[in-house]
Amino acid sequence: MFHTAICDLLGIRYPIIQGAMQDAGGPRLVAAVSEAGGLGVLPTFGGTEAALRADIEKTSKLTRRPFAVNITPIGRAFTESRAAICIEMGVKIVTTGRGDPGLSIVEKMKAAGIVVIPVVPSVAHAIRVEQEGADAIVASGSEAGGHVGRVSTMPLVPQVVDAVKVPVVAAGGIGDGRGFLAALALGACGIQLGTRFIAAQESEASDWVKQRIIAARETDTIVSSLMTGKPVRALSSRILSAYEAERARCSDEQERAAARGRFLSELRDAARDDRTYAAGEISGMIRGIAPVRDLIEAIINDAAALAEKLHALAGRS
Ligand SMILES: Cc1cc2nc3c(=O)[nH]c(=O)nc-3n(C[C@H](O)[C@H](O)[C@H](O)COP(=O)(O)O)c2cc1C
Repeated sequence: MFHTAICDLLGIRYPIIQGAMQDAGGPRLVAAVSEAGGLGVLPTFGGTEAALRADIEKTSKLTRRPFAVNITPIGRAFTESRAAICIEMGVKIVTTGRGDPGLSIVEKMKAAGIVVIPVVPSVAHAIRVEQEGADAIVASGSEAGGHVGRVSTMPLVPQVVDAVKVPVVAAGGIGDGRGFLAALALGACGIQLGTRFIAAQESEASDWVKQRIIAARETDTIVSSLMTGKPVRALSSRILSAYEAERARCSDEQERAAARGRFLSELRDAARDDRTYAAGEISGMIRGIAPVRDLIEAIINDAAALAEKLHALAGRS
């Protein structure tokens, strides 16, 4: 059911990728997703080289199915060292987020037989990474949790699909069988989910974060550049709202940098309720914690039932 080009490329049963997630997506979640027939992805953002090596080893012990590592290219030295670890440890699939790893690093990974899948927020970015040798592309809309661009999933995915030849996976604001089927209708051959998996039983996010996701409404996220200097969608908080209001009042880059410094130190000392946590607009639809296998099977089964309904509807018109 729903066997697509991305299943063949990655050697997975269902075309469902768990997007890399710092804090929530460690070996337990990654292995659970891969064991359930999707593709789990380990994060590297914010982690040391030793932590990445340990995570790859641990995940390899938990599952023999394919899993990936995500490299966020936050600087040449970081990107090169994480790519070298993936090559040395025999990682088969690498996704990249926020920015480009650069042609020479992509070439090195591909020469080592690694399947490279960049996550992109725009058509221009998709065309660039395809020219650099991407094997598939994740088109991620602005509804997503984590780093975001400006275009939402619905207009982004078909435009990326039309612009490139490699398989395209849709990300951003997808959380159930309806979103899965909509993504396929837009021309994607799979989906990448982040936020929905934060509230999975196997996710390493704290109970407090899981409960905040469950309590959130669709309007309870905010895009802020406080955390990394680039736009990140996260659960709304007093500090993020205050920083964005202050930033809008600043007249030049120097003032904005000074404001960011002040708010970052406030964030470091903040009480739990004022801390930030990346999450997407789909939070509003998440009502409970469930095991990964149940989540993935519900997406596939609900999509199949919905596809039949739509087929019948089309027959009637
Ligand atoms: C808590 C959190 C952390 C994330 N960390 C990363 C990351 O380290 N690298 C990356 O490429 N994407 C990261 N993302 C983005 C996800 O991999 C995924 O593409 C996104 O969550 C999909 O949108 P959704 O949240 O609407 O499902 C993160 C998302 C969340 C919610």
